[in-house]
Amino acid sequence: MKYLYLLFSLFVIPFLVVTTKKASVTAEMPVAEVLKQLGDKSIKHQPNMGLKGVSAENGKKLFLEGISKSPNGKKSKKQSKHFVCTSCHNIVQEDPNLSVSDPQARLEYAQEKNIPFLQGTTMYGAVNRTSFYNGDYYKKYGDLVDKARNDIREAIQLCAVECAQGRSLKHWEIESVLAYLWTLELKMEDLNLADADFQKIKTAVDKGTNQAAAISLLKSKYLQGSPATFIPPPTDRKAGATNLTGNPKNGKLVYDLSCKHCHEEERYSFFKLDDSQLSLDHLNKHFSKYSRYSTYQVSRWGTSPVPGKKAYMPQYTKERMSVQQLEDLRAYVKQEAGK
Ligand code: HEC
Ligand code: HEC
Repeated sequence: MKYLYLLFSLFVIPFLVVTTKKASVTAEMPVAEVLKQLGDKSIKHQPNMGLKGVSAENGKKLFLEGISKSPNGKKSKKQSKHFVCTSCHNIVQEDPNLSVSDPQARLEYAQEKNIPFLQGTTMYGAVNRTSFYNGDYYKKYGDLVDKARNDIREAIQLCAVECAQGRSLKHWEIESVLAYLWTLELKMEDLNLADADFQKIKTAVDKGTNQAAAISLLKSKYLQGSPATFIPPPTDRKAGATNLTGNPKNGKLVYDLSCKHCHEEERYSFFKLDDSQLSLDHLNKHFSKYSRYSTYQVSRWGTSPVPGKKAYMPQYTKERMSVQQLEDLRAYVKQEAGK
């Protein structure tokens, strides 16, 4: 009997462990890990953890507060006087369906999850993307985008200097931010896969068959990059987008979850906006004018930065605020003004 038991533990148990380990795709498993098991090689930006001072914890502090501890133990100089990375980026999932960029679905999801609705894309799942500063961003940043388009490290650096209007990041800081972003990678459960699709992918991993099909199936469930289309304000600002009727209730969401994120209490801007009559009257008066205070103007063109010297407002692309949503905001401001 003892021999039998010994035989069992020597041969059968290890065998069971090995086979269960192979059948390994679970809901909590990182998407990048599944892709790797399928033989995909599209993601190459693992952080260099061997460099002195590099840690995800340091990267997180830099991202959330703009400071961290340098390798010699001193506090680093604040990255930007004006912003932190979370001024413009969420760090949690912000789209209910990761395979489409739909600003209205995102706005409703933001309300449900109590997160802001912002000009920059979420960093949740950023390491799973293969291209950055997509679409029209080359119009704004020119040649700088060439380097950043396929390189997340360059994208981080570009944003630190150009978007956050701050100092450039040191080598160990970039690796730390990258290590932090890896803690925000996509998991299988985020993709809302139908059971049949999940099984297809699991089988491809377990059996090593149909891997190419499984890779494209998996990649069709989330965007490989955040799309960006620049659009101008309506040609006739008085009339607005004439084919649309603004919905003030939806406009209030835009105001609360987006404008107030930066302007309430002058959090990231010296221009104060809140629910006061003063704010809403001011916005209403200037909304459709050719003035620096026009919401049409600042939403679609942003305000221009003085490098390093000043905070500026980033524009909203079509994907980050729809034409309808901007009309909704106008309807809300108009409804609330002059009460
Ligand atoms: C003032 C606003 C603002 C601040 C502050 C800011 N960003 Fe950005 N960031 C943007 C915008 C706008 C984009 C354009 C691409 C997009 O998000 O669709 C962008 C793009 C990026 C991208 C590429 C994302 C992609 O998928 O294309 C990365 C990475 C990034 N930022 C990292 C950072 C880091 C790290 C910081 C802090 C050091 C930071 N950003 C601060 C506005 C900002
Ligand atoms: C990511 C942060 C951010 C968000 C979100 C944001 N703004 Fe701004 N906005 C700024 C900054 C920074 C400035 C530059 C003014 C300053 O602080 O010096 C600015 C400037 C402005 C100005 C011009 C003020 C002036 O002094 O010329 C207006 C008007 C304005 N914003 C309205 C809005 C409205 C309306 C929304 C919502 C649709 C909004 N902002 C969303 C950061 C933001």
